[in-house]
Amino acid sequence: MSAEQPQDPRLEQAAATDDSLISVHEKASAGTPDTHAHYRLLPLALLFIFSGLIFFGGTYLNRYSGHFHSEIFDERQLPGQGGAATVTKIDPIALGKKQYNSACITCHMPNGQGLPNVYPPLAGSEWVQGSEERVISILLHGLKGPVTVLGKTYSAAAMPAFGQVAGGGYNWSDEKIAAVLTYIRQEWGNTAGPIDAAKVTELRLKEANRKEWSEAELLELP
Ligand code: HEC
Repeated sequence: MSAEQPQDPRLEQAAATDDSLISVHEKASAGTPDTHAHYRLLPLALLFIFSGLIFFGGTYLNRYSGHFHSEIFDERQLPGQGGAATVTKIDPIALGKKQYNSACITCHMPNGQGLPNVYPPLAGSEWVQGSEERVISILLHGLKGPVTVLGKTYSAAAMPAFGQVAGGGYNWSDEKIAAVLTYIRQEWGNTAGPIDAAKVTELRLKEANRKEWSEAELLELP
């Protein structure tokens, strides 16, 4: 019986086209144009243009930002004059001075003289100008006195660790530690040679996560 039944007119709607639907709706809404009906998808070209811009921006920053390193990013650098890649050479003295002023100056003072009976001097110090391994170790893991510097014994305070130690430490990079050491070894009339970041790395790995040094332990180092 169903074969002879005329098709349900609602089924024919399935064959309706977008245009016919729009015109039906326009009629139903008393001739008011259906403004939503004519929205277009974002043109593909725009998608490509924006993707291209984002890609360009990323590449540009990667090439010229110097990774926003405070020591190497030069916003006046012109492309074609080397770019950020060739400016990555950090001046250890400038970096060391900056590090000193930000972290050591409160205890060891601007003139490197320290504070009598509390903070030992770095100016003229035999520790600063002596064995590289000892002074790097002091910076990496800290030092708990008593320690004798220029004939005077200090034990009132402790020297904090600037490397990475269990439960603290300033966690400075090897470059920063090498730079601050290079700086204090030739500031205030000191005359020792620069410290290489590779040497800091070597000792960091060798001494791993140890606690602060004592004077006796340091004196065993070469
Ligand atoms: C909180 C104070 C404090 C800060 C900050 C500090 N030190 Fe020290 N430092 C000391 C004390 C105290 C000693 C001596 C150890 C002791 O008395 O236990 C010392 C010892 C030293 C020594 C070996 C002894 C000498 O006088 O030569 C060096 C080298 C040194 N510090 C370098 C630095 C550098 C470089 C920085 C910054 C990166 C720094 N210190 C930051 C307090 C400090």
